[in-house]
Amino acid sequence: MPQEVVRRHKHLLFSKGIDLNITALKGFKDILPEEALLWQRIEMTAREVFRRFAFKEIKVPILEKTALFARSIGETTDIVEKEMYSFVDRNGESLTMRPEGTASVLRAFIEHSLQNQQPVQKLFTLGPMFRHERPQKGRLRQFHQMSVEVLGANQPELDAEVMAMASMVLTELGLTVSLEINSLGCPKCRPAFNEALLLFLDDKKDALCEDCQRRRLKNPLRVLDCKSSSCQSHYQSAPSIIAHLCAECADHFRVVQAGLTSMAIPYTINSFMVRGLDYYTRTTFELLTDSLGAQSAVGAGGRYDGLIKQLGGPDLPGIGFAMGMERLVLMLQQQSSNLEPVQSGLFVAALGERARGIGFAMAQALRCRGVQVLMDYADSSLKSQMKQSGKQNCRHTLILGDEELSKGEAILRDMNTKGQETIPIPLPGVLGEWSAMLAEKIQ
Ligand code: HAM
Repeated sequence: MPQEVVRRHKHLLFSKGIDLNITALKGFKDILPEEALLWQRIEMTAREVFRRFAFKEIKVPILEKTALFARSIGETTDIVEKEMYSFVDRNGESLTMRPEGTASVLRAFIEHSLQNQQPVQKLFTLGPMFRHERPQKGRLRQFHQMSVEVLGANQPELDAEVMAMASMVLTELGLTVSLEINSLGCPKCRPAFNEALLLFLDDKKDALCEDCQRRRLKNPLRVLDCKSSSCQSHYQSAPSIIAHLCAECADHFRVVQAGLTSMAIPYTINSFMVRGLDYYTRTTFELLTDSLGAQSAVGAGGRYDGLIKQLGGPDLPGIGFAMGMERLVLMLQQQSSNLEPVQSGLFVAALGERARGIGFAMAQALRCRGVQVLMDYADSSLKSQMKQSGKQNCRHTLILGDEELSKGEAILRDMNTKGQETIPIPLPGVLGEWSAMLAEKIQ
């Protein structure tokens, strides 16, 4: 770490005049409880769909050696050139907060020789990623992906199956997106395309942005991914990679499309889609929406047949995709049905010390039966406790007052229909049976 940076860091750390009004970093977001419910729904839906396709979860570290990402994502990509959170640690080693999940999952696959356990590994991982981008709606610096990888198989049917799985997650969440696909060929057909692209760019080079001018010679395909609208206007008539595919890649792409058609998954071909990461070969795809403004990609992925070998592992193919959790949440929030609070659980409104003692034991027995139970221990009035029950969206309230206690009864109120019924207070010793009866009644 440069000495000046170390000095400034120490100064900020120990300075007495430090600003105590500490807020979250720009592009880093708190997920508050109401929104977290949507996150849970997305995760549960994804996990369930992944199970149907026999995927298993893998958890990998957030911090990796910088070389892992530079070597896989590509030295000339925006991510590696401009967006990584990299730093030199106390041992003088360059580390990076992962900007995506694929490289880490492949590193773990290689490190643990997972191919020896099962020839085809179907893995998924969920978690935060970090990219120093310009934050805007749907684009953060800490964002979360559900990332999926299939390692060890190159059959085109699998590409279609992976897209079908992504599409199933979205359908089950009630979200509609469009699927665009492309093929980026292989090391055999890419050189001819690169040559055609270089030729095409030759008379336009002076009009291109600095990045494109630099990348044109190093990695010509990368220019097509440029974010500048001026550059993009020049690329409208660029040669199509699909027209340059070798026979094997063309055939592979044909079977991918046939697979999608047989599963009735609509798609369009976008021969300009090159993706922002260098590791892709053959099939690439993006799941797009027009409901999130500029950030239209809800998910994206593709095949990366040379990557495992490139990272020092066996020569095995791979394919995967990742979906952005924040973008899925934004889409769900746009559906008004997701904003309506759902009534659930029971509020035990006990009045007085004795009732509170009985209610306390009841609450514990009901929770053991799976019921969500809330209670107030502040000796509040019945009116105040009923208000709390409503505010917390409880479906039922169990009222335990002196009068009820003397009769050995409690009142169960349905907060939705406002209907009430009396139910017996259990004798000590039959609390288990009583709670089973009540749980069945109100769940
Ligand atoms: P990616 O296209 O860089 O691919 O990211 C995948 C998805 O992550 C995007 O479509 C988007 O939904 C979300 N995303 C990316 N950057 C941000 C951001 N700054 N803020 C919010 N969401 C974001 C990959 O990362 C590849 N590893 C995908 C893959 C897996 N390919 C093969 N296997």
